[in-house]
Amino acid sequence: MTEVISWLRMTELDRIGLPDFAERIALAEEEGFTGEPRRYPGYPTWPLPAIRRRWWPLFDTVLQTRRCHRQIDTTFPAPHTLARLLKASHGVTDEWFRGPTPSAGGLQAVELYLVHWQEAWLPKGVYHYDRRGHQLAQLLPTAEQDFWRENIPSLSQVAEGAIVWLIIGDGRRVAAKYGERGERFLLLEAGHLMQNLCLVSTSLCLTTVPLGGCFERPVARELRLPTGDHVLYAGVCGPVASVSHQKSRSG
Ligand SMILES: Cc1cc2nc3c(=O)[nH]c(=O)nc-3n(C[C@H](O)[C@H](O)[C@H](O)COP(=O)(O)O)c2cc1C
Repeated sequence: MTEVISWLRMTELDRIGLPDFAERIALAEEEGFTGEPRRYPGYPTWPLPAIRRRWWPLFDTVLQTRRCHRQIDTTFPAPHTLARLLKASHGVTDEWFRGPTPSAGGLQAVELYLVHWQEAWLPKGVYHYDRRGHQLAQLLPTAEQDFWRENIPSLSQVAEGAIVWLIIGDGRRVAAKYGERGERFLLLEAGHLMQNLCLVSTSLCLTTVPLGGCFERPVARELRLPTGDHVLYAGVCGPVASVSHQKSRSG
């Protein structure tokens, strides 16, 4: 059995383990353990425009037309478009920092980062989406294309793109309540968030392609992630090359 399979087995829930698991959850709830989205105080921030609800496009149309396009334009989305993409995918929409991404125990343990190296209104760099402030915190003022292409080999399967997504799981946030089973939840939540990014991208005439090939360790180092964090999922986003003229419809 490979290590991954044994980890999956080890974190399975069964009748014997259920009482301990339930007790652990009850204890965490008694202690009032809640999830607070990450922030980077003191880092340069870029506030994003407020977003109003749209009546179009139809959700069914978005579901039907979502595709992973391999020819992606490098044009960086306008401020309103990026703001909508982030807010609609992972913004705070309710109390306790709840948002569109389902979250185990409401711990909000997946964090969204983005990297871009295009000339744009947002300077090149590595950013964290501050869900509470609906703003971007700049972690690094540089983003070397070569570094990111080398460490996310799947980027070579897509022609260009404007933004690289990185979904990070906060292992410490889930461990307190769920122990090792919490790591499973992080993976599941990362999938939810990536799906949101895919669908919202489609609704904005963009595409997001999830990427499975990523060297997690160097990426974690580049992001200066704390111990306990996991690089879970990468993706690339940008205007679909053949319909990039429709960009002005978004925002
Ligand atoms: C977990 C996962 C990993 C993926 N990794 C890659 C990848 O490394 N490179 C790539 O070009 N597409 C990747 N994709 C996108 C799939 O290739 C794509 O979803 C598939 O071809 C079906 O096309 P569609 O999304 O347009 O329906 C990935 C998708 C998933 C769900």
